[in-house]
Amino acid sequence: MKTVTLHVNGQAHSAAAEGRCSLADHLREGLGLTGTHLGCEHGVCGACTVQLDGAPVRSCITIATACEGRAVHTIEGFDDDPVMGRLRAAFTAEHALQCGYCTPGMLITARDIVLRLPCADEARVRLELAGNLCRCTGYRGIVRAILRVLAERAPQPVPAAVAG
Ligand code: FES
Ligand code: FES
Repeated sequence: MKTVTLHVNGQAHSAAAEGRCSLADHLREGLGLTGTHLGCEHGVCGACTVQLDGAPVRSCITIATACEGRAVHTIEGFDDDPVMGRLRAAFTAEHALQCGYCTPGMLITARDIVLRLPCADEARVRLELAGNLCRCTGYRGIVRAILRVLAERAPQPVPAAVAG
């Protein structure tokens, strides 16, 4: 056992972790943050996606003790985030979830797409989502939701001056 200190959702947390404990298990079992879901536990499905130092990672194949001193954001940490707020609303409007199992990881990946690729088209969104599997929706609603938020955030054309 080793004590690992992480900055999780803006707060420092110190807790003991086994040497081979995954970040996902540490968050769920050590810190009670069960919004991070586990599917394959092999780095394939993306259900466990969290943000580590600002970038999405698969927490099932990330060793907790290797994250000493780093900043982790789980889905619970985005309650006041305006981009995540828009994505949540768009996921609801576009029927982008059914069972919801993939949704926390999907939302964290979606937020990364929206912030990193403001001009992404449908093909690019689908490419970026390739590491997040959903067994329910067929992806169409998820893609529509992300494109909706990208469109909402796109600079609006300046209206032509009205002749006086
Ligand atoms: S549970 Fe981590 S990628 Fe599937
Ligand atoms: S909504 Fe069920 S797996 Fe995606």
